[in-house]
Amino acid sequence: MNTYHIPAVYHPKRHYQRDKQEIDAAIWGVLDRGAFVMGREVAAFEREFSAYCQAAYGVAVTSGTAALHIALLTAEIGPGDEVIGVATADKAISLAVENAGADLKWVDIDQQTFNMDPNALQAALTPKTRAVIVAHMYGLPADITAIRSVLADRKDIILIEDGALAIGADSPAGRVGSLGDMACFSIASSKVLGCVGAGGVLTTNHEEFYVKANWVRNYGTASSPYKEEDPMPTRQEKGLVIRGVNERLDTIQAAVARVKLKHLDRDLAKRRANAKIYDRFFSDLACETPYIPQGYTHSFRTYPLLVEASIRDRCLQQLNERGIEAGAHYIPPDHLHPYFLKRGGYRGQLPVTEEVADRIVCLPVHQYLESDEIAYVIHHTKEVMQSLG
Ligand SMILES: Cc1ncc(COP(=O)(O)O)c(C=O)c1O
Repeated sequence: MNTYHIPAVYHPKRHYQRDKQEIDAAIWGVLDRGAFVMGREVAAFEREFSAYCQAAYGVAVTSGTAALHIALLTAEIGPGDEVIGVATADKAISLAVENAGADLKWVDIDQQTFNMDPNALQAALTPKTRAVIVAHMYGLPADITAIRSVLADRKDIILIEDGALAIGADSPAGRVGSLGDMACFSIASSKVLGCVGAGGVLTTNHEEFYVKANWVRNYGTASSPYKEEDPMPTRQEKGLVIRGVNERLDTIQAAVARVKLKHLDRDLAKRRANAKIYDRFFSDLACETPYIPQGYTHSFRTYPLLVEASIRDRCLQQLNERGIEAGAHYIPPDHLHPYFLKRGGYRGQLPVTEEVADRIVCLPVHQYLESDEIAYVIHHTKEVMQSLG
């Protein structure tokens, strides 16, 4: 029996233990002040997070999926509008579009980067298209320069990033979070920057979107939500002015996320170093290791390998039996979920997305891995892959 258990994307116990003193102080500070809703840590986190992303504004919300929904509501996109996205983002993009009541259209991805294929986007645009949501999959930024040039003549379309897996990643066009009209992040505990539960952030460089996203997350009311540092809550209430939701980030989660943000560069460096070790040891295996184009950095939420489809499931099963939580993130792709199959999704609709879904093996690469655990993952991945031929 093996003695190792290596979790897939983070290590819940070490997540807290590693920064325990600072996390404890941050949480008790909020509890002592009783600042549970929109306390000063929320505003501070929004400032610090957006600055880290090189964006002007941040709006802290309850999840990455909520951030995507809020971005669409902020742009007043709804019934009759078409939104184009990828089917690979763990249902979040698809659900956000469904929940906004807009028409969802998926386009295929590029097989090397796993990100939206700009040519597929070009072919999918129609006069009804109002938004494009681009996910930076597994932590690699999408080719925003190519996507922007596809959209160059369409000033009526807004570009939204899904940066849930790619906080801190850079591209020749800039840093994730600053590349579109709005960007959406998850800070769920399992993400590269994680709080101790669920959370998300929306970033933008547009003041108008910042103001409106604040309204949308706060029941759609045009009041500035009470913030502790305000001497008085500003209440120029105009009541409900936009379709809204109740999706404000809890102060406690913001306080924890601020601690994790302070250590994000340390954590990203560790993920990238772990990935480099894997690159070296897996170069002689019959698989494709992650591709990083010139001028890009990767945040490595997981380490995605492509193996032959015929061995993928056995490969995952054998790694799992050895205590390594390797997985296929994310299968099935959205269009093959029962909900979307009933609404016209079908196999063959997105050939590259489906091929990747059939071949992907995501290995743990997170900052909480110890060196013996990395050696263990390498040894067993090689052994399993070589035995499966
Ligand atoms: C690419 C991508 N986008 C968005 C989300 C949604 O984030 P959340 O779980 O915070 O709603 C996820 C969640 O895993 C994701 O993988």
